[in-house]
Amino acid sequence: MSVNDGGQPGDGLTTVRVPGDKSVSHRALLFAALAEGESRLEGVLPGADCQSTAAALRAMGVAVPEVSADGAPFTLRGVGGGGLRAPDAPLDCGNSGTTARLLLGVLAGAGVPATLDGDASLRGRPMRRVTGPLEAMGARFREKGVMDRLPIRVLGEGEFRGGRWVLPVASAQVKSALLLAGLLSGRPMEVEEPGLSRDHTERMLRAMGVPVRTARVGDPGGADRWTASIGAGPHALAPLDLRVPGDPSSAAFLVALAALGGAGKGLRIEGVGLNPTRTGFLDVFRRMGVDLEVIPDEVHRGAGDAGDAGDAGDAGVSDGSDVGEPTGTLLVRPSRLEATEVGGREIPSLIDELPLVAVLAARARGVTRIRDAAELRVKESDRIAVTAQNLRALGVTVREFPDGLDVEGTEAPLAGRAPAHHDHRIAMAFGVLGASPGCRVEVDDPAMVEVSFPGFWACLRDCAPRRPVVTLDGPAGSGKSTTAREVAARLGYLHLDSGALYRAVTLALLEADRSGRGRPEAEWSELTVEELEAFDIALERGADGFRVRVGDRYPEAELRTPEVTERVSAVARIPAVRSWLLGAQRATAREGGVVTDGRDMGTVVFPDAEVKFFLVADLEERARRRLAETRDGGELGAEADRLARRDREDAGRAVAPLRRAPDAEELDTTHLTFEEQVSRVVERVRGREDSHRGP
Ligand code: DC
Repeated sequence: MSVNDGGQPGDGLTTVRVPGDKSVSHRALLFAALAEGESRLEGVLPGADCQSTAAALRAMGVAVPEVSADGAPFTLRGVGGGGLRAPDAPLDCGNSGTTARLLLGVLAGAGVPATLDGDASLRGRPMRRVTGPLEAMGARFREKGVMDRLPIRVLGEGEFRGGRWVLPVASAQVKSALLLAGLLSGRPMEVEEPGLSRDHTERMLRAMGVPVRTARVGDPGGADRWTASIGAGPHALAPLDLRVPGDPSSAAFLVALAALGGAGKGLRIEGVGLNPTRTGFLDVFRRMGVDLEVIPDEVHRGAGDAGDAGDAGDAGVSDGSDVGEPTGTLLVRPSRLEATEVGGREIPSLIDELPLVAVLAARARGVTRIRDAAELRVKESDRIAVTAQNLRALGVTVREFPDGLDVEGTEAPLAGRAPAHHDHRIAMAFGVLGASPGCRVEVDDPAMVEVSFPGFWACLRDCAPRRPVVTLDGPAGSGKSTTAREVAARLGYLHLDSGALYRAVTLALLEADRSGRGRPEAEWSELTVEELEAFDIALERGADGFRVRVGDRYPEAELRTPEVTERVSAVARIPAVRSWLLGAQRATAREGGVVTDGRDMGTVVFPDAEVKFFLVADLEERARRRLAETRDGGELGAEADRLARRDREDAGRAVAPLRRAPDAEELDTTHLTFEEQVSRVVERVRGREDSHRGP
């Protein structure tokens, strides 16, 4: 993965590439291992799933080199169809369904005994859809754990007879496993499926000289059915020379990111695989209003186009590599999204992208309906249930159905946690949502993305425009804190109440003095930074902002007692206190997207903040608000006097006095409602965000 801004000067799009296609990478490793001779592979996905395939092949005697993190080219000497050795130990397929299912076909066809196993998530996924047909055609298996689940032993005995199989549901993994069993046993094999599942196996085998035929067959019911067949062998596989195209399923996350406005003016995603069995998401995204252009790479017809590949409907799309896999560039810009309906025959070509469609739907106008996608329940997680739960936890209205979802789009801020349930595509779909304007999403298992998109989080960060830092300064009682908190919530930014820091120091000093361990109040002005450090006061990032920790507690009400309020201005005047707190405050805004309030946020702490306000209000109005806030009755005049005294102290001190920054907009809130104050600030921040983005 790489990012730069210099791709095509002028259009403001950021140029990115995505890692190699996971499906193609698995097959490239596996088929090159079975070939006779040396293959050259470039851009193989280094993700955990493909590492599982590589490791399994090594365990069977194939010298697969290290798959490097940057997709650098390497050569792989194949052992030929009959050259796989029975492994000494169970083959660990990790999280990878493709590894397990393709190997079941290979081992059964080649008659190599081996046990296949996987992680907890893979052990939960059905395998009989592969072992069932293989068994019916003569292969023998033993389920060593739970019925229909890994670990499963391929016995390597019995004779695989080949034949014809009709799949109830279109599935590339099952189709490939059966074709591979036919290939390695030398028996003819034909697989029929309702709708064309991804056809990388057929294309790559053809490119390697194996006559695999693909045909569209009529169906009395109207819908198209497809067959893929391979004749009787023996078949020798010629070595590959392959540059793996960028994974369209990975590109889909970036397309969604750019459409949601999480990537500035937009993205140019280069070298993306455009195999029509994979790009159903482009049609659905377009229907949802995604501003998308597809520029096919130059056409050079490869050996892979022998046979009937043209039937796959890719006329007009170029072939950018030598295995008949078309590639191209996607241009995507921030978009106004509309709801859509997804179902029926289009499902197989965007099955991996459906959680992402649901995420886009959460930001689209109207209710999006996804149906006929029950298959999603047996992916790396139950993607229907998990997507529904996570969207709901963020505040989206979702209805769950056995085979899909209804998602009601909203413009409201979305915030909360989205557990990944050990599923890379869930982690990424919600990562994309979290990186888009007005959203804040915590993904609990970010490392899961390594399965298919190493470097995903860094890519999101690099694509994102920097979100502004917003400062709200002003005198006590001007409504800064409540306004700042609400503004942060609406924008999905983090809130920092700097006054709470000064209050926490005051509280800690008071407690130390009272317990006899600290300096008496009269000497506080002589405090040093070293003495302050002993108090262990820190800012910690929570779900919606920073909170102050004092030792092992998070004081809140204690920060607002009259004892603290009376003394805090004097404490805030101490130079050591101010300089000690400066670093911690600045650290909160490293990534932008922070709304801070205080006295010197726009002048001293964040002089470069993109959006600055200075809130003022009549003294009497401020006193009234304070009394309403503290609810302890009190007398208006006395409260006004207290505020005036604090204003004088805060504005009159030598260090960081309360002042309007020259570039801060003054907002007199005396006659404004809370809603009016908040929307004034939110609108200005949105204007700043848009200036990074719009044309
Ligand atoms: O906003 P507040 O009332 O919680 O602030 C408490 C005191 O802290 C206030 O009287 C001045 C001081 N303060 C400061 O000096 N600089 C800041 N950035 C924030 C607060």
